[in-house]
Amino acid sequence: MQQLEPEGAWQAGGGRPTLGLVPSGKTPRTILVIDDDEGIRRLIEFLLAPEGYRIATAGSAEDGLEAIAAAPPDLVLVDMHLPQRDGFDVITEMRARAQTRLTPIVMITGDATAGAKLRAIESGVTDFIAKPFSPEELTARVRALLDLKAATDALESAEEVLISLARIIDARDPYTYGHSSRVSYFAGLLGERIQLDPENLRTLKRGALLHDIGKIAVRDNVLCKPGPLTPAERAEIQSHPARGRDVLANMKTLAAAIPIVYHHHERMDGSGYPDGLAGESIPLLARITTVVDVFDALSTPRVYRRALRRSEVLEIMDQEVRKGWWDARLVEEFRQVLNHVPESEATPDSAIVPAPLGVAMGTLAAAARHEMDWIL
Ligand SMILES: [Fe+2]
Ligand SMILES: [Fe+2]
Repeated sequence: MQQLEPEGAWQAGGGRPTLGLVPSGKTPRTILVIDDDEGIRRLIEFLLAPEGYRIATAGSAEDGLEAIAAAPPDLVLVDMHLPQRDGFDVITEMRARAQTRLTPIVMITGDATAGAKLRAIESGVTDFIAKPFSPEELTARVRALLDLKAATDALESAEEVLISLARIIDARDPYTYGHSSRVSYFAGLLGERIQLDPENLRTLKRGALLHDIGKIAVRDNVLCKPGPLTPAERAEIQSHPARGRDVLANMKTLAAAIPIVYHHHERMDGSGYPDGLAGESIPLLARITTVVDVFDALSTPRVYRRALRRSEVLEIMDQEVRKGWWDARLVEEFRQVLNHVPESEATPDSAIVPAPLGVAMGTLAAAARHEMDWIL
């Protein structure tokens, strides 16, 4: 197996001009060819290397997957028939890995049946190329798919920007530092516990991380106000789920997370906001996020109270389940999740701010909770 060459070993440029998505003159795009036929590997390398791509080759599925794990390529060309594990295995495994979930994969086929092609499509193949192929067809296909990959990368970096933004928003208020990361972390644990499928689990973790992103539109002096809120200030804060939905509305890859962001302040009895949805008409992923959001709000200190101990938090949440606010089954499942997480380790990625000296600690009665605990 030929390892991927270090940066700059090939002529930079990534081939012909693209749709403007690949910066020209930068890192060459890498293509991994997995084929047990050395002649085919050499031919593809011969045809594509002059285009400015960096080519790596592997003679088996195992070697190919190892190379992909070491340095994820921008495109994979894989033969359908390989010794031991075949091309379908390569596709399935790449799709199961987060790093290569969206990497374009072209299957090289000889006399593939319709059934074999269908199987490849179900495994997640992006395109096919039949042997024998013309040089023009190969280079045109590769170029188009690398443009697609560049567009996907651009979208992913836009998502990264939003995620950084979520962290920055948490950091605006020392009392919510790390809040979104913790909500995402615990929502993921709760989602695993109730056996969400991988796609929903991924959406849940993203949506939970971004759930308060609409706070970007709330002014600091309102967001951090320790005293009672005026009706206008309350309305401003309560606009954050709709603002969050608007922030994500243009991000196709985050569309599935919008219901989480928009509905994370609904209550089971319909007394929440923004839509006053009740019961199971509140999307499940939003209900999960709500439970974890409330848990984290109570577990961290506020200007007006100290951080509550886990037993205290769960007691309050039980009271609120009885009032009809939270999903009873999810709160119970979350209690089971917490049994496996020591209280001292329960705050990853965060620095808990101690309650300010001299702040009177209220009783645990729900009445002692500041309104911010519910609406933020
Ligand atoms: Fe929140
Ligand atoms: Fe919120």
